[in-house]
Amino acid sequence: MSPELLEEGTRARLEHEQREAQKDSSGGSASFGRVVRALEPDFAHGVALYLDDVTVSFDGFKALNALSLMIRVGELRAIIGPNGAGKTTMMDVITGKTRPDAGSVSFGQNIDLLRLRENQIAEAGIGRKFQKPTVFEQLSVFENLELALKGERGVRAALWHALRGEQRDRIDEVMTQTHLADQASRQAGLLSHGQKQWLEIGMLLMQDPKLLLLDEPVAGMTDEETERTAELFLSLEGKHSLVVVEHDMKFVDQITEGRKTVTVLHEGSVLAEGLLSAVQADERVVEVYLGR
Ligand SMILES: Nc1ncnc2c1ncn2[C@@H]1O[C@H](COP(=O)(O)OP(=O)(O)OP(=O)(O)O)[C@@H](O)[C@H]1O
Ligand SMILES: [Mg+2]
Repeated sequence: MSPELLEEGTRARLEHEQREAQKDSSGGSASFGRVVRALEPDFAHGVALYLDDVTVSFDGFKALNALSLMIRVGELRAIIGPNGAGKTTMMDVITGKTRPDAGSVSFGQNIDLLRLRENQIAEAGIGRKFQKPTVFEQLSVFENLELALKGERGVRAALWHALRGEQRDRIDEVMTQTHLADQASRQAGLLSHGQKQWLEIGMLLMQDPKLLLLDEPVAGMTDEETERTAELFLSLEGKHSLVVVEHDMKFVDQITEGRKTVTVLHEGSVLAEGLLSAVQADERVVEVYLGR
């Protein structure tokens, strides 16, 4: 299919789906545990995310330089690279925060992310975890997850309507997954740094994202918290696609289990890709890490 046709198709589909979503929101209730999705990615070909030849310039400096990357459905991909390599910029592009100068970014085989706004990208099923946790400190763990379930527009609804049993079950499930089951009524502001990170991941999970982007998720965590986070990510693999940026190589080793691909970014493009042991032995990789 030509790029023009693809764009035309995406636009037509988007407009159609927006009309459908508007119809939906006036009537019946949202399906349990997820936001109403106006944009449904098509994963039939097994590709979750595809960046092709993406370039981002800041005053002539190329933060991303013809970056191409493909993430399969259900894959857990670790991305490493020295400071300034463009890792966060890459996430900014995927989530619509930064617009590239050139290249294409698609979600599934049908959604052109460069045509969508940030909120539409989130609705399409891409969740992002920033380094600093942003939970509602005054609310309990349970209430934070409850709000995440209802979505921002549903805050008032969340306060006034009792949860259905299945929604409660979903919150319990996520609390168990994120090691917060015994903290349900605790005020989020009183949690440890690691627990806040888990709560924020839990809040993302309440939206049932297809793709999760996690930028330095274990920074500032204790060794034990880091290990539990690795277990959490491994339990999410397969059900979601995960892109994890991390500097902590022990953690990268844990989540890639000696058999998954690690991508090394440097100066805005892929420098190396392969098993962690292989990229760590790659002279070019050693050089960029030593040279920083
Ligand atoms: N908004 C911006 N304006 C100008 N330069 C920027 C902007 N955002 C990022 N950069 C530059 O782009 C380059 C890539 O930055 P980015 O934050 O993506 O790197 P990173 O790989 O995430 O690094 P780190 O490991 O330190 O988080 C850096 O040189 C950075 O200074
Ligand atoms: Mg960064």
